[in-house]
Amino acid sequence: MATNSSEMPIPRRRRARAAFDRQFLPRFATPQRGSGHGGDTSTFMRAIMAQPHQVGAIAPSSSRVGRLAAGIVPDHDGAVVVELGPGGGHITDIIRDRMPSGGRLVAVELNDDMVRHLERSRPWLELIAGDASDLVGLLADAGIKQADAIVSALPWTLLGHDSQRRILDQVLEVLAPDGRFTTITTLSAWPFPSCVEFRRMLREAFGQVKALGPVWANVPPAIVLSCGDPR
Ligand SMILES: C[S@@+](CC[C@H](N)C(=O)[O-])C[C@H]1O[C@@H](n2cnc3c(N)ncnc32)[C@H](O)[C@@H]1O
Repeated sequence: MATNSSEMPIPRRRRARAAFDRQFLPRFATPQRGSGHGGDTSTFMRAIMAQPHQVGAIAPSSSRVGRLAAGIVPDHDGAVVVELGPGGGHITDIIRDRMPSGGRLVAVELNDDMVRHLERSRPWLELIAGDASDLVGLLADAGIKQADAIVSALPWTLLGHDSQRRILDQVLEVLAPDGRFTTITTLSAWPFPSCVEFRRMLREAFGQVKALGPVWANVPPAIVLSCGDPR
């Protein structure tokens, strides 16, 4: 029987390579400084080289991961949504597209290069240059006491136990009683003690913790943890 090459199974390594190419090559090929995905990715890559532990990822999150993380944006008027670690701004854009009328989107970013990039490329964003460990104070300075949703892409598994605890406590202090929290972790980090410990903290802090994914087309494959019913 003649073999049609389009019907042959694609080896896993080629599928992963194709996913990587789809996610990044167009952006590298057409860099546009300061705006759009080209500017986002090149800023991200420079920040990784300069401060790998602070950025904590080898590439920006894919749109699929962004959509899962932003899935908690409420639809009621005037909702307050906080993003922790917006980085190049890819998930920020996805959150913005879902914001209800009169809503407020506030992002907290620690890395100076990312902050400059976001200020240039997204003048509409209410951006706070600061550390998520000081979330309660930073939001209070911006006149916010409570958030309806908090979307995080912080590199939790690279943080020590004390930092994880402190940031999570701050999140819990500002999250509304019916608020929701999402965070992203990579599949490769999943079995490591810091990730196991972080998931244990989440289960302790929230009545509901759902793992969405894995998203295989993300580089590296990622899982979104979606949490509700804060205790
Ligand atoms: C893994 S990157 C995610 C970037 C982007 N949101 C994405 O998903 O592609 C983590 C981001 O968190 C920022 N970050 C790390 N620690 C932080 C902290 N304590 N407070 C605020 N931002 C932090 C890093 O600078 C970086 O921009």
